[in-house]
Amino acid sequence: MQDKISQIKKNYLEKISQAKTLPALDEIFLALFGKKGEITLLPKAFPKLSDTERRKIGPAFNTAKQDLEKAIETRRQAVREESYKKLETEKFTLQPLGLQAKKRQGHLHLATQFKKEIIDLFEKLGFYQFDAPHVEWDKYNFEYLNIPQDHPSRDMWDTLYINTSKLGVEPGQMLLRTHTSNFWPRLMEKGQTTIRAMSFDRCFRYEAIDARHSHTFNQFEVAVVGENITMANLKFLSDYLLKAILGKEARSRFRPKYYPFVEPGVGIDCLCVFCHGKGCQICSGTGWFEIAGAGMIHPNVFKFTGLDPKKYTGLAWGFGPDRMLMIKHGIEDIRYFLEGDLKFLQKY
Ligand code: PHE
Repeated sequence: MQDKISQIKKNYLEKISQAKTLPALDEIFLALFGKKGEITLLPKAFPKLSDTERRKIGPAFNTAKQDLEKAIETRRQAVREESYKKLETEKFTLQPLGLQAKKRQGHLHLATQFKKEIIDLFEKLGFYQFDAPHVEWDKYNFEYLNIPQDHPSRDMWDTLYINTSKLGVEPGQMLLRTHTSNFWPRLMEKGQTTIRAMSFDRCFRYEAIDARHSHTFNQFEVAVVGENITMANLKFLSDYLLKAILGKEARSRFRPKYYPFVEPGVGIDCLCVFCHGKGCQICSGTGWFEIAGAGMIHPNVFKFTGLDPKKYTGLAWGFGPDRMLMIKHGIEDIRYFLEGDLKFLQKY
């Protein structure tokens, strides 16, 4: 018995030292310690031994077992180390074999790229982003903005109302916001008296879709509230944006325009970048593009949201980035922005 144990040990220690792979070591392990492994089967013969023999064989068996286990583990470690070293020197490519892999890298959507650009631009001036809900209460989209229920000025926005019959909410109280102007009454209502915020986000209107109109579109809006905010600030912000997007020559022009939530209200035009004001096909011969609505926040908006209109003033200014991008890149159809057309996506 003693001889048999020594024989097994010698034999396998040699095999172990020569094994070059982990599966080979697994095989050796099984041959020794598996169900029918040589080490596993050995104790079956122990009952036949005399007491003195068993006392000698027992410890010899245990040592052999432990030595073999340890040898396998040590060799395993060494095999692993060797394969790691090999990996370091190996060249490895992920290219599918036999195929000339085609580069198909995605990128951000044109509108998202533009959003990043504009947000960065205004962050430099200390503006922070504040996003208001797309599904909005009537009061933030209209009433706080000085547009009462049933007032004719509501016709300026073709609104999509939410069917609230199952929500326990009165009809007409919930809608898809028609503009980003819903974000600043929310801030003012919280009692914020120094606001320098912006939002670049989606708006929705009940529009018949054509090349220039979409039911879903983006707006970029800024709002500033404080103690000495004036039209001069508004003018500065308009030129700041236009020059950054369209180049140093860009200029803005203010025209009186009615919006219920600003007084005075203005339409902001931008000098046509194609004809420099002479009048061309793109600007319909006028030399200018209308790009934004803006104005000084109406005193009623301060009153409705609980701020003192004698102490605070503010400006708000919202423009259509989709339209701006159409002008800048000569895109003739607004529907491209939502359609996921690959040619369009790849071009920009
Ligand atoms: N909310 C207006 C619109 O969507 C634009 C606007 C914003 C006008 C801020 C004035 C001040 O038509």
